[in-house]
This record gives sequence, structure tokens and C-alpha cells, in this order.
Amino acid sequence: MADVAVIGAQWGDEGKGKLVDWLSARADVVVRFQGGHNAGHTLVIDGKVYKLSLLPSGIVRDGKVSVIGNGVVVDPWALVDEMDRLRDQSISITPVNLVIAENVPLILPLHGELDVLREAAAGDKKIGTTKRGIGPAYEDKVGRRAIRLIDLAYPSTLKEKVEKLLTHHNALRRGLGVKELNPEALVEKLKQIAPKILPYAGPAWRLVQEARKAGKRILFEGAQGVLLDVDHGTYPYVTSSNVVAGQAAAGAGLGPKALGYVLGIVKAYTTRVGEGPFPTEDESETGQLLGERGREFGTVTGRKRRCGWFDAVLVRQSLKLAGVDGIALTKLDVLDGFNELKVCIGYDLDGKQIDYFPAGMDAQASVKPVYETMPGWQGSTEGARSWADLPAEAVKYVRRIEELIECPVALVSTSPEREDVILMRDPYED
Ligand code: GDP
Ligand code: IMO
Ligand code: MG
Repeated sequence: MADVAVIGAQWGDEGKGKLVDWLSARADVVVRFQGGHNAGHTLVIDGKVYKLSLLPSGIVRDGKVSVIGNGVVVDPWALVDEMDRLRDQSISITPVNLVIAENVPLILPLHGELDVLREAAAGDKKIGTTKRGIGPAYEDKVGRRAIRLIDLAYPSTLKEKVEKLLTHHNALRRGLGVKELNPEALVEKLKQIAPKILPYAGPAWRLVQEARKAGKRILFEGAQGVLLDVDHGTYPYVTSSNVVAGQAAAGAGLGPKALGYVLGIVKAYTTRVGEGPFPTEDESETGQLLGERGREFGTVTGRKRRCGWFDAVLVRQSLKLAGVDGIALTKLDVLDGFNELKVCIGYDLDGKQIDYFPAGMDAQASVKPVYETMPGWQGSTEGARSWADLPAEAVKYVRRIEELIECPVALVSTSPEREDVILMRDPYED
């Protein structure tokens, strides 16, 4: 059974949402398995734009079941707002088409506040987080003091757990010089949101297991990208979860053999939002142009994304780390009209050429990209749906990338619109 996992292979925003939406036509259940509302996945369907942060991208298709797996951190207020926004766009969300793992840890207002306080205190050493409380919420999960969704159903346990959690947080808050929190007020706030979210809570792991047993197809929707992975990314400039394919199993409640095909989503150039190393970052007009043509503004925070040429070294490494079988190359159309294109094929580190991205912070900041230059194309790839529609130089660019990253290109995306995809190998058939 070929269940497909979609993983971002760079610093996020590669176009995962678009590809998950496209693939969900072939799937029955779509599962988010890590991250939280730091993610921003954009879908464009017949010109109508849907922005999803916590809801799996399958939610926009009738007849699909969307699952928020145990590996996600859920801000119940943000989720309720997102559901309201989607309902205003005529999307139906009911406990039949949305199930949230009852054991997900919750993001509370104190997590967002802590995220903001820490970033402010870090000054120019800040991470550039989305300020959504993601890191602090994962810390509490691993610290075994998180409030989980199911706790909302048990008021006396909830009170005890909130008191324990606040013993920890109030000590931190005293240290940071901010007002301590009152447990009763937090319990009250949680009791008010509980009826809006508890109807969706359930043993998500059983649902996905039973769906598999019944021969249904599961689609795993990753958030962020491998270079933001807490182990493999540009630490400490990373998010606080594992984003690689192994996490899809752990974060959904399945064994690793549930993953049939891992599809890496790769942008035809590179972007990053937030701080941290970025070897091919281009602060000249070229980077500006990539940003303008690719409309590179964050879906979640509206921040301008940093832009640069394609980095084959980073992507090759990411694909291996994530266990990717094939990629979807996105935003090829953004490269239309450039006279020449550069691709990073190695790094210079203190005068030595290396073919991988080193782990040390200093080395990551000081590697200099070694470029190969390729001719660009003047024709348009925008909206292309077949290989035959691509200019010869665009075909060469895709083939060269395929060679450098040591991984086949399964799909190419040529516009934000749902159906503007060139299919070369079907991940569900491969
Ligand atoms: P995600 O976080 O990986 O889902 O990606 P985002 O939605 O944050 O950012 C990708 C942006 O590029 C969105 O605005 C998409 O609508 C858009 N997009 C996706 N694929 C393509 C493509 O092939 N061409 C162009 N021009 N835009 C695309
Ligand atoms: P999608 O799923 C791009 C980045 C933030 C920051 C770092 C840590 O849309 O690709 P966090 O708030 O997670 O603690 O921030 O990670 N980041 C993303 N960048 N796309 C995302 O998600 C991101 N989610 C987090 O900008 O650098
Ligand atoms: Mg995004």
C-alpha cells in the first residue's frame, strides 16, 4: 500500500499545501503530523485562495477525512478562528471530516507570550520565530507538564495539571520580570473553549490504523522543511519539531512501514523566513526580483522572505535525511525571463571545497557557495501542464537539478493554481 508523505525539503514554504491539495484527490485521509500554526499552506482553487495553518489541506475537498495527529501542537483558539475563516469560505468542517488526536499538547496564551519575551530578550541573536508559542509548547510536552486536548474533558484533572504547569511557568515569569498567572483564570479560559474543540477529539491513531486496514489511502502533510528540523536543520535557527518522514509515522500513531512513498517538495530557487544561515542568499537585485516574482511574503507573519539561487548541496542533503523517494519541483515559472540561472554545486570552507553542509554554526555561517551557471529561458512556463510545454532550457534546468540532487523529479508545479502541475511519475503508483 503506497501511502504518500509530503515533506518540505528546504526552509519551508516550498508549496507543500498546493501539492497536498493536488494529491488529496487520490487520497482518503490527510494527516498533519508535526508543527502547529507556525505553518502557512496556501491553496489556490479556481482563483479562490485558502490559507491553512493547522487544518490539513484535505479539508477543502468533500469526502476526505482530515486528521490532526498527536505530533502537532494545537492552539485551540487559533484553530477555532481558522475553522470560522474556512467556514466563511463555504468549507464544511464537522466531527465527521475533522478528527484531532485527543493526546495533542495544547499551545496556551502563555506559550505565545514566552516566545515573544524570549525573542525580544535575544535582541539581534533572535531566531525570528513566528511568535506562535511553538517552541515553548513543545518544551512543555517533552517536560511532561503539557495540557493535552483530552484533559479538557476532565475538569478536576485539568485544574491539577494547570496548577503544576503554572508552578513551572510562574518561576520563569518571575525571572523574566513579568506578571505571574492565576491558575483559576486559565482553567476558566480553557473550560470556555473546550466545547468548541472537544467534539473533534478522538483516538486519531485508531482512525488512521483502521483506514489503512480498510485499504484507504493516507496522505501525510508535513509542515516546515528539513532545514528547519530540530535535529538536522540550521540549529538553533530551527523550529522545535522533527519534520523528516520518520516523524509522519510517530506523529500520526502508525509504524514506519506505513510510509510508502516520500515526496519532497523543492522550490526551484531558495527562500528562508526568519534568521539563520543561508549560503545562497542574494541581497542584490536578483534576490529582489525572485522575491517579487515569487510573491515571497510569509503566509503566517507577512514577513518578506529572504531569497537566493537554488542550492543543490542543501537539497541533496535534505532529501537523504528525510528519506525522499522523489520530488515535486515548484515555482519553476518564477524563473521565466532570467538571462542566466545559477545553481550552487559545492561550498568553499576556508579555502577547501566541500560537498555537504557542515553542522557547526560557524561553518554554516561561513561557507561560500560555488556556482554553476546555466542559460535561462525567455518563453513562459506559467501554467504548463506537460513536459512538451516547457522551453528546452527549462527542461535542461530540471534535468540538471535532478542529477545534482540525486533524486527523480516526480512532479513540476508551474503556478499557484491547483491543476497547474506536470505529472511525470504518480507517487501513488510508484
Ligand atoms: P507551503 O508552506 O510549503 O505550503 O508553501 P506556502 O503556501 O507558504 O508558499 C508557497 C507560495 O507559492 C503560495 O503562495 C503558493 O500559492 C505559491 N505557489 C505554489 N506553487 C507555485 C508554483 O508552482 N508557481 C508559483 N508562481 N507559485 C506557487
Ligand atoms: P510552512 O509549513 C517557513 C521558521 C520561522 C523561524 C523558525 C522557528 O508554511 O512551510 P517557530 O515559530 O517554528 O518556532 O519558528 O522556523 N518557520 C517557518 N518558515 N515556513 C514555515 O512553515 C515555518 N514554520 C516555522 O520563520 O525561522
Ligand atoms: Mg508556508
